[in-house]
Order: sequence, then C-alpha cells, then structure tokens
Amino acid sequence: MALFLPVEKKSAQKRMESLKRKGLFNPDYRVFEKEGMIWIPLRAGAEVEGAAEISTEPVRRRPKSIGEALAGVLEPEELAQVVNSFDLVGELAIVEIPETLVGKEALVAQAVIQVHPNVKTVAKKEGPMEGEFRVRRLKVIYGENTTETLYKENGAKMLLDPAKVYFSPRLSFERKRIAGLVKDGEHILALFAGVGPFPLVIAKQGKKCEIVAIELNPAAVEYMEKNILLNKAKDIKAICGDVKEIVPRDYANWADRILMPLPKDAELFLEAAYAGARNGAIIHFYTFADIGRPFEEAREKIARHLEKGKYEIAGERIVRPFSPAQVQVVLDIRAKK
Ligand SMILES: C[S@@+](CC[C@H](N)C(=O)[O-])C[C@H]1O[C@@H](n2cnc3c(N)ncnc32)[C@H](O)[C@@H]1O
Repeated sequence: MALFLPVEKKSAQKRMESLKRKGLFNPDYRVFEKEGMIWIPLRAGAEVEGAAEISTEPVRRRPKSIGEALAGVLEPEELAQVVNSFDLVGELAIVEIPETLVGKEALVAQAVIQVHPNVKTVAKKEGPMEGEFRVRRLKVIYGENTTETLYKENGAKMLLDPAKVYFSPRLSFERKRIAGLVKDGEHILALFAGVGPFPLVIAKQGKKCEIVAIELNPAAVEYMEKNILLNKAKDIKAICGDVKEIVPRDYANWADRILMPLPKDAELFLEAAYAGARNGAIIHFYTFADIGRPFEEAREKIARHLEKGKYEIAGERIVRPFSPAQVQVVLDIRAKK
C-alpha cells in the first residue's frame, strides 16, 4: 500500500512541483496514469486532500545513481563522499568506495543493484592501475566470489577478468569508429591488445582483413584466444610478447593500420610501431594530454620519437575526458617511407 494523489493531467506538472517543494512527493514510487488521471506518489502520512491509499502494487521507480539510492540511508556528510560513476562490464559492476565509507560496502552494493538490477556481482577497486599489465586489485563485495564476466560490445562477446587483465568499457565508441575505418584486405597490427576488444570489434564487421594482436600479459592472451573462438574470428592471430621485440623482427613493413591503445606511454613504442608500417600506413596513437593544449602536446611526443619528414598527422580527436586536467586523445599518423 502506498499513498497517491490523483490529479487532472493538465495540472499534474504544477502540482507535482509544489508537492516536491513541500517535501511531500515520494521518490520511491513511479508517477503513473490511470483512467485519464495522473497519480502522484506521496510520502507516508502526508496530509493532502484527495490522497488515497492504493492497494495495487505500484511500480517502484529505479534510482538513477548510487547517491540517489542512498539518500536518506547515509548521513548527509557520508552521502557527499559517494562516487556515483561506476563501470559496468557485463553483469559485473566495479565501484570506487572512498576510505571514509569503509564499512558501508554492503549498502553501496545494494544501491548499485537498485540502479542496475541486472548486476550479479559488485567489486570494489582496491588501488590504482598498476604495472606493465595495467591491472588493479578488486574485492568482491556482493554476489558470487568471482570477477570473471562476459561482456558484449558492438556485436562482439568478450570473456575477461578485470582483476587479471586491463579492460575499459569506456572505449566502446572508439572501437566502433576504428572498425568503421578498416577496408577489405588490410593488414592490421593491434598492439597492446588486451583481451582483444579492438581486433574483435573489427573482425565482427565481416571485412576480409588479417589482424595480428600482440599482448604482453599471458592472462589477457589466454582470454583473447578464448574470445577468438567465441566469436569465430579466425582472421585474428594472438601473440603473447613484447611489441618492441615482435614488430620490428616479425612484422617489419607489414601493416596498413596500427593501433596503439597504451595511452600512458605509447610514445616509447613509436619506433617499434613505425617499423611495422608500410608506406602510407596509419598509426592510431593514443595518449593522455593536458586539456588546454592536447594536440600540441601529443604532436610534441610524436616528434621526439619519429624523424621529421617521415610521417604526417592525418587526423586528431579527443577520445574521452580522463581527469579534470587531462583528456585522452588519438592522433592518426601517416607513415611516409
Ligand atoms: C591500456 S591496456 C589496453 C588493452 C586493450 N587494448 C583494451 O582496450 O582493453 C594496455 C595493454 O598493453 C599491454 N602491454 C604493456 N606493455 C606491452 C608491451 N611491451 N608489449 C605488448 N603489450 C604490452 C598491457 O598488458 C595491457 O593489456
């Protein structure tokens, strides 16, 4: 049972705003329409003329954020500490819980489930991305004690464990964009390939191309091999090893397109990537740069590693915000050999 106020459609908006201002609107329930009237949910005990208890089960409105779900549950100063953004990788949610909210993990996990009822497991970040493999520690705070998950994106399925391999769902648009640029017959070097998101999304487009995916983390390569089978993507060859060794030795002057999604220090691998490029090949170079002059900073990094006259910048775009001061950018470098 919940208390609702039936009002005429034409006055519903104004009435709802006034009830909200007076603190009488109940955000736990959804406003609904029945027999030409709009039914506005009221807080229990609200004294409003014409209000009625409804016995039919009203649909609970889903909160839009963790903070909204925890309003009234946490103290206001705790609520101010809540980090609303979280990553959803398949049915796994990865949340950030500040030190000040230690002990409130179960409440945060419940809030995530309210926001996304499909979530089966909630894991908490236990530190920054670390080491060459760019992996962070995770701790399960709700659900089955595993962080392995099946993620679907742009028509590709990917099995992965974010506690063992790097993965970001935030690059899904970029992967789709790159896949859209690929032409039939291309040779592609997918460097720093992780569990294979870039090569898999490209392969799923159905273009005839050869993709060599190189990754240093053996756990990621193992997942990539599983994902190649899962997606029947036989045009992808996964190689476990260091880009610096493998490209100049085995793929010199081989590629038409080279992907470098290692934004933290991709410039240190530019010479190796360039060695793999044919004349006219495009190298997609990802890096973090200052929000004030992102492309200038990225161009300076490139100029420190590639010889003037041996390349040109064919395109540049901001991929996503990274921090208040930095953005992730991609510069398309055309090799002139
Ligand atoms: C930022 S992640 C990108 C992974 C993947 N492309 C994605 O978008 O999910 C960078 C990856 O590069 C790998 N890596 C780091 N150094 C490498 C190297 N020298 N050779 C090959 N892979 C490397 C890391 O293990 C990590 O998986």
